[in-house]
Amino acid sequence: MVATSYYEGFQGWRLVLCVTCIVSNLQILLVLGQYEGSNSGSTKFMTNYASSSDGQHFRILSNGQQVQLLLDEHSASGFVSKHKYMFGRIGMRIKLVPGNSAGTVTAYYLSSDTARHDEMDFEFLGNVSGQPYILQTNIYAGGKGQREQRIYLWFDPSADFHEYSVLWNRKQIVFYVDDTPIRMFKNNKAALGQDYPDSQAVGIYSSIWNGENWATNDGWVKLNWTYAPFIVTYEKFNVDACLALQHSSDPCIAATNGWWEESEYETLNFKDVERLNWVKENYVVYNYCTDRGRNPIRPIECDINIL
Ligand SMILES: *[C@@H]1O[C@H](CO)[C@@H](O)[C@H](O)[C@H]1NC(C)=O
Ligand SMILES: *[C@@H]1O[C@H](CO)[C@@H](O)[C@H](O)[C@H]1NC(C)=O
Repeated sequence: MVATSYYEGFQGWRLVLCVTCIVSNLQILLVLGQYEGSNSGSTKFMTNYASSSDGQHFRILSNGQQVQLLLDEHSASGFVSKHKYMFGRIGMRIKLVPGNSAGTVTAYYLSSDTARHDEMDFEFLGNVSGQPYILQTNIYAGGKGQREQRIYLWFDPSADFHEYSVLWNRKQIVFYVDDTPIRMFKNNKAALGQDYPDSQAVGIYSSIWNGENWATNDGWVKLNWTYAPFIVTYEKFNVDACLALQHSSDPCIAATNGWWEESEYETLNFKDVERLNWVKENYVVYNYCTDRGRNPIRPIECDINIL
């Protein structure tokens, strides 16, 4: 009896192993297929992302096409991509916390998560009902950040989904809100010797957390838990980038055949320059480039980037 059940147990274990191996092979095929295709807009969220948040703080909706992060007194919440990427266009459609969202911070960012990390951030600072969100962006290269810019948006980001994305290649990084560029960062390595994110693949992260000590009117307006849970909704997990398999950046550094390497993406076109200037003139709340208190000497990249 003992021998038999041991044997059956053994078979069962083997079966489990095989299923696991088939499932993980399928996942790899799906991921590869998707990047050869070019738009992952209809791919299910869990194919590319994982969350360690529990069911009270992370929800999957619409047959896997949408997810929600929830913030309450008990916990913040987040998700992260299963893979790392380099260059291309990485974005997501986000509908921010409606109503009173003061003190909440929703972050959507790309990070190499290394000692001298590269990072590109979107951070949405909530507000009391009817008052505008602030979108803060930042760029780290080789571990150096402190390049915060803050803008108001020209729409209510909690009323509907909008796409927040980054175009990233060897020449420039451009942050977009839908089709409007809101920020650029040129590769100044050759000209100015400044670090540029071109050697490390990045993971895709999002989270919602309590930032009441600094977020709303510099920490004057505190988060009010009466309005919890604070819910942010995501859809269209748009990634069209080089996939760094096994988290190795080398194949992406070597590859030069991505569409994002084409000359039309090396600089902003006329329409984009016009749009970026429109944002600069009408929506900027804060710019590290003009903060003389913090930067008595204007950072060198500020003369080269429009905004
Ligand atoms: C919140 O609203 C106030 C008043 O309109 C505004 O000054 C502030 O910039 C808004 N945003 C944040 C995040 O505080
Ligand atoms: C939180 O919101 C509730 C409902 O509007 C209000 O009664 C309460 O005074 C608020 N708390 C704080 C600390 O502002």
